[in-house]
Parts: sequence; C-alpha cells; structure tokens
Amino acid sequence: MIAKYNGVKVVRYGGKEATPYLRKNIDLFLQCSCMLDLGCGNGRNSRYLREHGIQPLPFDRCPDYGQEWKASEDIPVNGFVDGVLLNYILMFLTEAELVKIASEINRLTKSGAILMVELEVVKMSFTDTMEKVKTLKAKFMDLLRWEIVKEDSRRFIARKS
Ligand SMILES: C[S@@+](CC[C@H](N)C(=O)[O-])C[C@H]1O[C@@H](n2cnc3c(N)ncnc32)[C@H](O)[C@@H]1O
Repeated sequence: MIAKYNGVKVVRYGGKEATPYLRKNIDLFLQCSCMLDLGCGNGRNSRYLREHGIQPLPFDRCPDYGQEWKASEDIPVNGFVDGVLLNYILMFLTEAELVKIASEINRLTKSGAILMVELEVVKMSFTDTMEKVKTLKAKFMDLLRWEIVKEDSRRFIARKS
C-alpha cells in the first residue's frame, strides 16, 4: 500500500514477519520493558516485541494501521520508555519532523535506553540516494546525541547515556 505525506510517497510494507535486523538483534532488547515503535505500519515489529515479553507502544500517523493496535495522540509520561524502534520511517520525515521526533524520543526515554534505526534508499522519499541515507543518519544522530553501539551502512543500534 502507498500513502502520500509531505509530498513524498510512503510505501507501507505488508509482510507479517518482523524485520530481519530486529530478529537478529532481539537479544539486545530483551531487558526492555516498554518500547516505542514509531511508524509501526501494520505492527509486525510490535507484535514480535510482544511475543518476546516486551510491551510495545506502536504509533503511526496513518489511521488504518494494524487494526489490533489503538492509536494514541501522545504519550505524556517523561522517561517511561526504555527502547525505540524506527524501522523504515525516517526517510519520509521533513526536517522539522526529524527535530521533533528526536526531541520526543529524548523526552520519553530513560537513560540507558536503546534504539534501532533502519534506513533505505526509497525513490520518491527524501532519501532517494545512498548519499542522502548517510546524511540522514548523521543528521539524526546529531539531533539525538546517543552513542552508536552497532552499525552498518543502512542500519544502526544506539544507546542513550
Ligand atoms: C515503510 S513503513 C514502515 C512500517 C514499519 N516500521 C515496518 O517496518 O513495517 C513507514 C510507516 O511510517 C508511517 N509514518 C510516516 N510518517 C510518520 C509520522 N510522522 N509519524 C508516525 N508515523 C509515520 C507511515 O504511515 C508508515 O506506516
């Protein structure tokens, strides 16, 4: 399914399985009690967290996302979350949204919280080249100021100090 936000197309993945990167690295998240899944799509990763005993907080701005999940407008509690998933969402956000999301993640998370980001080159998104993926990664980490603990060219895991 394709939706359009900010003048760019957002391809919404229909698969049911959690992303291979999350499945491969789930051990790093098993100590988390509550994890935000921002841009959760159909909820495949939130479902996987729940199967591993982690409470997911799935959010998506598209109103028709996974029917089993209820949308919340906001999370009012500071420092409540100890893990965050940003799988294939950042490429679709404006500069202003990136700033806002980084600030909200810092507000919501405890120290020691752990974050997974997956990026991709997507035609019609704000990152339609590998160069732009690299720039996005650098820009977002500059906003967030967490320490990268594991990375490859399009994915990384970071920890809040
Ligand atoms: C490519 S999908 C990825 C979905 C999911 N993370 C996954 O790995 O299957 C991107 C999702 O981000 C959502 N999205 C885009 N901008 C958003 C925003 N500002 N806030 C919340 N969700 C957003 C879209 O509605 C879409 O469901």
